[in-house]
Amino acid sequence: MLRTHTCGELRAAQAGQTVTLSGWVHRRRSHGGLIFIDLRDRWGLTQIVCNPAISAEAHQVAEQIRMEYVMQVTGQVEERPAGTKNETIPTGEIEVLARELKVLNPAKTPPFDIDGAGEIDEYVRLKYRYLDLRRERPLGNLTLRHELVRRIREWMWKQDFIEVETPILVKETPGGAREFLVPSRMHAGHFYALPQSPQQYKQMLMVAGLDRYFQIAHCFRDEDLRADRVQEFTQLDVEMSFVEQDDILGLIETLMIEVCPSLAGKRLMNNPFPRLTFEEAMNRYGSDKPDIRFGLELCDVTNAIRRGVFRVFDGVLDSGGAVKALRVPGAAGLTRRELDEFTAIARKAGAGGLITCAFAADGVKSPLTRFFSEEDLGRLAAAAGCLTGDLLLLVADKKYTACEALGAVRLEIGRRQNLADPNLLAFLWVTQMPAFEWNEEKKQIQAKHHQFTSVLPEDIHLLDTDPLAARANQYDIVLNGYELGGGSIRIHQRELQSKVFRIIGMTDEQANYLFGHMLEAFEYGTPPHGGIAVGIDRLAMILAGESNLREMTAFPKSQNGIEPMTGAPDVVPESELAPLYIKVTQVEPD
Ligand code: AMO
Repeated sequence: MLRTHTCGELRAAQAGQTVTLSGWVHRRRSHGGLIFIDLRDRWGLTQIVCNPAISAEAHQVAEQIRMEYVMQVTGQVEERPAGTKNETIPTGEIEVLARELKVLNPAKTPPFDIDGAGEIDEYVRLKYRYLDLRRERPLGNLTLRHELVRRIREWMWKQDFIEVETPILVKETPGGAREFLVPSRMHAGHFYALPQSPQQYKQMLMVAGLDRYFQIAHCFRDEDLRADRVQEFTQLDVEMSFVEQDDILGLIETLMIEVCPSLAGKRLMNNPFPRLTFEEAMNRYGSDKPDIRFGLELCDVTNAIRRGVFRVFDGVLDSGGAVKALRVPGAAGLTRRELDEFTAIARKAGAGGLITCAFAADGVKSPLTRFFSEEDLGRLAAAAGCLTGDLLLLVADKKYTACEALGAVRLEIGRRQNLADPNLLAFLWVTQMPAFEWNEEKKQIQAKHHQFTSVLPEDIHLLDTDPLAARANQYDIVLNGYELGGGSIRIHQRELQSKVFRIIGMTDEQANYLFGHMLEAFEYGTPPHGGIAVGIDRLAMILAGESNLREMTAFPKSQNGIEPMTGAPDVVPESELAPLYIKVTQVEPD
């Protein structure tokens, strides 16, 4: 090795020893004829002192070097004189007096300051990601992610799970997210897909009798990117046999409790994790992934509305909708501009509009005063628990649309008022989602989670009469307002699986063509089974206190799907496409 110790290792106990360190020049400064270098590696910083009285050569080298040069230094460890110790770094009680100093490799001036905390353009950061990762925060994020995966793996091994790698080149599965395709050289015109998740394979492993499977699985979805959605991501993918919903919830809950708070240095808000039905989550928080670190719960004021005076409310209520409300304590004095901003948020979330009602000390300020009497408004205030000084925000619409719109406003108010404690980990489970949803574009029922999810036993009969009313035997784990993971108890009987394929609009021929292997496998003794997948990127992001998944990936794509360092994706010469039976022509996408 070109070193005896790392740059984060030395303490006062090693004073007097001769050591060799290697690393990068983090900072250099001259002071009273001495040159001080902070030498950096992955483990930390060590102060090197170049004193011409100890080594004139080392001092001379130190005069020449610049930031990010790669250096090797040999010298004696000394306890720093009293008053010069640096308590902010673990090596702050010592320094190394350089006897030999060698440049292992010089460096160009980096395009940004490795040491600085200021904003750097993201494209530049990603183009020079190898320099970006020298910075404290990005390196800390990668280290945290590594530690998270290490702890998860060790815990899963201890619980007798077997780790299996499933294929990356798989059969295309329609429905769900758009898939990346890979042309086959050996089969003209045929394509593999990259897996959206190992779903079918992990179910096959249950048929095979593996019973407890897990994988730190790489998944690919050709989706539009968002802060919490990327094209390539990693799941803790789990499947178990002979289990019921509670077994899986219990397992993941224990894992999260054992791994997360200590790793993140944050507190659990609830232990055990609360369980909300989908209906309850929507009604109370206007979201199927509520951030419960703060209150501001929605309420339903439908029954407090006087009919026959306000056309908008009447129209909605006549067609079976609801009037949902959000009480914002002490916010009666918000400006017109702020209220307009909330209206825009509600509209973006699908509502027709937002009605504001400020219960100010000098009277009610609301467009409703034109229609509602003082008594009507008093009934509304009482239904929502409003006091003088409060603001009431109302949305009248289809129930879930009204909930979601106010849910979006609730989150924005939480953000503006800093209501969510960043040191809290607020896990919860959401259960009993609808099994299916209506796809207006395709005019067809589709699975809400995926087509292998079973339905709650008490709702099975609805598959024949009203599938859209059936609830899935499904569960999502939510953390601080993010959907962290999801899973379900699966269908394990051929007949039921075929029926679900039919409900989502597949003919038996299509089902056999696409999923014949599963239907057949289900005839060979398939155990009842279920599982879950937890997003590792999202979990790491929340634990690290970041708000963008790109911060948690070594080499992420930029917002528009480009990897700035290598330039992927790229055009490929025709000579490489011909063996794949491919010719590129421009076709207008749908
Ligand atoms: P699902 O599609 O809900 O379930 O995904 C599970 C978890 O994976 C993470 N995730 C993502 N993370 C980043 N970018 C994305 N584009 C992305 N998509 C998903 C989320 C999500 O909660 N096979 C099923 C699981 C099962 O039924 O066992 C599945 O993949 O954290």
